[in-house]
Amino acid sequence: MSNVDWGVVARIVHVLAVVVWIGGVSFVTTIILPAMRKKQPQQWLREFDAVERRFAPQARITVLLVLLSGLYMLYRYDLWDRFADARYWWMHLMVAVWLLFAALLFVLEPLVVHRVIDRGASIAPEATLRLMLRLHGVMLALALLAILAGVAGAHGLF
Ligand code: HEM
Repeated sequence: MSNVDWGVVARIVHVLAVVVWIGGVSFVTTIILPAMRKKQPQQWLREFDAVERRFAPQARITVLLVLLSGLYMLYRYDLWDRFADARYWWMHLMVAVWLLFAALLFVLEPLVVHRVIDRGASIAPEATLRLMLRLHGVMLALALLAILAGVAGAHGLF
């Protein structure tokens, strides 16, 4: 094992975790949420909740793996000073996207998200679903941009 390149192992973990995590976000955004539009509020709330409860632990684990593998690559290749250089804007973007999702998964989701959705769905179900779709769309677009920029940046396109 002494000749294993742990930097490459971390990169594999980073990319696999991103695939599972953002793949799940994409599935929820482009398949699950649009399918809910045809259902009654009480039914879509129950079904969305069931999907969300199964996805949340998976997302939390993969988000942590992305952080750990990313930090390891920063340490292994000594890339810290990239954060002081605007040419590495794609590194800032990766961290910003990570912070956004981490805040959502570890702080907002357990504390307020369910309450806000339940309340919104009882007052204005269609508007609530539309808002959820829009927010998921924005988050998916940011994540895809971070992936695009991450691969392009790491392989010298910028
Ligand atoms: C705290 C969060 C993160 C840290 C510290 C981090 C760190 C890193 C580092 C150091 C690299 C290697 C750069 C290089 O080889 O020049 C990298 C690559 C990459 N990261 Fe991140 N990252 C983070 C979050 C994310 C997020 C949220 C995404 C996507 C949603 C992402 C997607 C990628 C991709 C696609 C690559 C390129 C892999 C390759 O093609 O070799 N990262 N990241």
